[in-house]
Amino acid sequence: MNIVRDPSEGSLLLADLIGASHRVVFFTGAGVSTESGIPDFRSPNGLWSKMKPIYYDEFVASEEARLEDWRRRFRFNREVAAAEPNRAHRAIAKLVAGGKVVAVITQNIDGLHQRSGVPSEHLVEIHGNATRAACLECEAHHDLAEVESEIARTGRAPMCRACGGLVKSAVVSFGQAMPVRAMMRAEYAIERADLFVAVGSSLQVQPAASLPMAAKYSGANLVIVNRDPTPLDAIADHVLRGSIGEVFSAI
Ligand code: APR
Repeated sequence: MNIVRDPSEGSLLLADLIGASHRVVFFTGAGVSTESGIPDFRSPNGLWSKMKPIYYDEFVASEEARLEDWRRRFRFNREVAAAEPNRAHRAIAKLVAGGKVVAVITQNIDGLHQRSGVPSEHLVEIHGNATRAACLECEAHHDLAEVESEIARTGRAPMCRACGGLVKSAVVSFGQAMPVRAMMRAEYAIERADLFVAVGSSLQVQPAASLPMAAKYSGANLVIVNRDPTPLDAIADHVLRGSIGEVFSAI
């Protein structure tokens, strides 16, 4: 494992590694969006220092948990609407446009990769997407604005208009099954990658955090770009410390 602590040196190394690769996969976490003003989860003052996650079973069992989950969802979506993609998002989108990048696998639900220009055919959202809602039973699509106004009107958590099932935002909660198609797309990209760059993730949440390991064992060069140490640093070929924005400044 080669640790580079100077962001400008890390930037040049990352640019060289990308230049020498043909099938790059980026794997991003909340750290890639903090420079857009969106807090991550596990840094000091991160979201989990302010509130407990709502687990899937809680959501299903308790209307109060569902109403709190919706409150958080609408608050987060308003924060994100005010945020802009940052230089890391833009650098990744530029590399996708240049044909180097086979996939951007993201744990993020903030939509900033889409807004920076990463096309949906290259984007794999393994923790879902905060802009959609669906019935947990029949998967019928529900419009978020309608859900918000129904809750404001009735004070009740919405039920599916088609089958009466529970309606939930399309974000994967702790304890909820991972999206099968997204995980298959991620695995396909990992098998082909010759460079796998994990950016802004503490790599503590499974099964997402097993993807960089799978890439490494499939033969890819593994680079971790993160301010804080992660459990996978020891198997990485290169660990680039420092601000993600600075590391991506030369890309
Ligand atoms: N530059 C470099 N690193 C940064 C920056 C930055 N500007 N900002 C944050 N980081 C790093 C932090 O050091 C931290 O290790 O990004 C990492 C973010 O880690 P987490 O907050 O744990 O976010 P993430 O890894 O995406 O969480 C995974 O956990 O709560 C669930 O579903 C949620 O998708 C999320 C998953």
